[in-house]
Amino acid sequence: MSAVADTPEAERLEARGVQVHFAGVRAVDGVDLTLEKGHILGVIGPNGAGKSTFMNALSGFVRLTAGTVSLGGEDVSGHSPQRMVKHGLVRTFQEVATFPDLTVLENVELGALGAGLSRRKARARALELLGDMRLDHLSRLYASSLPHGEERRVGIARAVAVAPRFLLLDEPAAGLNDAESDELAQTIIRVREDMGCGVLLVEHDMRVIFGVCERIQVLDYGKSVAYGLPEEVRTDRKVIEAYLGKHGADELVDAD
Ligand SMILES: Nc1ncnc2c1ncn2[C@@H]1O[C@H](COP(=O)(O)OP(=O)(O)OP(=O)(O)O)[C@@H](O)[C@H]1O
Ligand SMILES: [Mg+2]
Repeated sequence: MSAVADTPEAERLEARGVQVHFAGVRAVDGVDLTLEKGHILGVIGPNGAGKSTFMNALSGFVRLTAGTVSLGGEDVSGHSPQRMVKHGLVRTFQEVATFPDLTVLENVELGALGAGLSRRKARARALELLGDMRLDHLSRLYASSLPHGEERRVGIARAVAVAPRFLLLDEPAAGLNDAESDELAQTIIRVREDMGCGVLLVEHDMRVIFGVCERIQVLDYGKSVAYGLPEEVRTDRKVIEAYLGKHGADELVDAD
């Protein structure tokens, strides 16, 4: 698998003071984030914390109320999703995994075509990627016929076929069993190693988060309430409160 050419400016995805307000809802309320190429950053937080909206803001799917997004030092705030892809930022969605009526190979090929490759090269890249991601035995099957876990991994393969510098994944482990989640975690680690891209992982499955992330950022009510190493975040009082409420956090501490 070929990595995208490294240039010094190509190393960072940065958000500064990002706000996304809907009528009456401050879904994202002044969030900063830095994702370095080659790193895996987890973004966690309770339901409705603003994780997906923040990912939409980073990838051009929602208008910023305020703040900036920059890619490789270039201000890309307000760019369309297509332009973001051209800059090397590719994301997956919480619900959609694949095109069900296409085969696995065709799904991944589409990603490569989206990156501007010719048909022949797109097929070659798709075949190579499916091999790298240990999905080649599925290539002729229709995506709709796959178990959930494999369909999710095919969805990631399709995004990776675009050769991203930054890959944003929104809850890739949703609905997976433990074995499937472990396989997915291995896939994410392999993608980072093979492609050298930066991965932003929004996920509720803490096995996956703590299994793959070097740093974790925590959102609650649209704000960033913690950032650090997994072991720091795990024991952070504000994080425990975000999930359990103040009362629940008190009880947890009392139980120690
Ligand atoms: N298009 C929209 N219009 C109005 N409000 C919205 C819109 N999209 C999201 N919201 C609201 O913004 C807040 C953040 O939602 P978001 O989907 O970003 O949370 P999340 O952290 O991804 O949650 P989950 O873990 O359940 O996926 C919620 O209160 C949600 O209802
Ligand atoms: Mg979400």
